[in-house]
Amino acid sequence: MKKILMVCLGNICRSPLAQGILESKVNSETIFVDSAGTGAYHVGNLPDKRSIEVAKKYGIDITNQRARTFVVSDFDKFDLIYAMDESNYQNLLRLARTKTDEEKVKLILNEVNANANHSVPDPYYGGSQGFENIYMMLDEACEIIAGKLS
Ligand code: 4NP
Repeated sequence: MKKILMVCLGNICRSPLAQGILESKVNSETIFVDSAGTGAYHVGNLPDKRSIEVAKKYGIDITNQRARTFVVSDFDKFDLIYAMDESNYQNLLRLARTKTDEEKVKLILNEVNANANHSVPDPYYGGSQGFENIYMMLDEACEIIAGKLS
């Protein structure tokens, strides 16, 4: 079983979408996908309504998800840890204990444009267009990730 973790700040907007999109593209018998936040503001909450809505629009149900905080033991549990933005990436690297931990952490949009270090913008304070926008970015990245995994 290959294990993939999607990480953003709140674990209510971007990483739940990334989780749902990747889950929709892979075989759940061989690939486990989860998500977490580097911040604890929304622990236990459902994804943001706007993430739930845009996922639903494209046929994906993410209402089974609840926000949780990234924990250091996630480095042991997961094979690949995808950060949504540069700030999440730096936060994860600060928590890494070893070179092996560090090597698991990737910026998700580098799957689309290698080494470009683009971030999935935080859509929390914007409107629904921002969620449509991040959905498209994550769909493109997850298509590539799913292709590599299978
Ligand atoms: P996310 O978005 O990191 O994509 O889940 C955010 C959600 C909440 C907050 C920031 C970003 N917040 O500050 O509460």
